[in-house]
Amino acid sequence: MDKSDYPKEVEIERAVPDDAEIICDIRDRAWLKAYPNAELGITADDIRVNAQGRDGEFVPRRIAHLKKQFTQDDGSGLTTFVAKVEGKVVGYVEPIIDEQNKRYISAIYVDPNNQRGGVGTQLYEKAVELLGEDQDIFLEVVSYNQNAIEFYKKRGFEQTEAIVPEDEGRPDYMKSLPMIEMVLKAKTDHTSL
Ligand SMILES: CC(C)(COP(=O)(O)OP(=O)(O)OC[C@H]1O[C@@H](n2cnc3c(N)ncnc32)[C@H](O)[C@@H]1OP(=O)(O)O)[C@@H](O)C(=O)NCCC(=O)NCCS
Repeated sequence: MDKSDYPKEVEIERAVPDDAEIICDIRDRAWLKAYPNAELGITADDIRVNAQGRDGEFVPRRIAHLKKQFTQDDGSGLTTFVAKVEGKVVGYVEPIIDEQNKRYISAIYVDPNNQRGGVGTQLYEKAVELLGEDQDIFLEVVSYNQNAIEFYKKRGFEQTEAIVPEDEGRPDYMKSLPMIEMVLKAKTDHTSL
């Protein structure tokens, strides 16, 4: 895309149960584009298995889980938000505050056919607006996902020293991807000093 192809209008809306299928599809295709790594011996088939299970068995479970999640409203204003271009979902973001009050961007995924069109930036800005900039915002990213790392660095994130543990509940047939943690430090209000 060149700048003249920027989506004319990107609408950011709360995800609804009917968005569950497309959200799964976008994440899986974004993973397949970003995560295979010949040097580390991580193939496209490994990524497909991580995303969908050996026989695609994760897909219906994940769709059902998301549908349920999108019907619940905990009143915090935090939920998954989708980006729509001409009424079609092309990406999503999940801002989260955990039990320890730690703020995260859990995921930003843009349909590979719509990347580099400004959609990710709008999703990112929505997440930061919801989380606020008065506390640190964390995220985890695959250590060789240079495209995403650069995206976050340009927006002020830096790598932390945290070692991201492997998912212990992961079945043996799933590949573990190396992760790093990044943080956007809270903006301090010097006017009150
Ligand atoms: C990382 C990701 C979310 C970014 O989303 P995106 O929609 O491609 O991001 P944007 O288009 O808003 O911005 C990307 C860059 O392209 C530039 N850009 C946007 N539209 C452009 C255009 N039409 N022409 C040229 N450059 C453009 C932006 O200015 C931005 O550059 P900057 O970082 O220097 O400001 C997306 O690439 C993605 O989903 N990747 C795969 C999944 C992933 O890695 N997710 C993160 C996991 S934590």
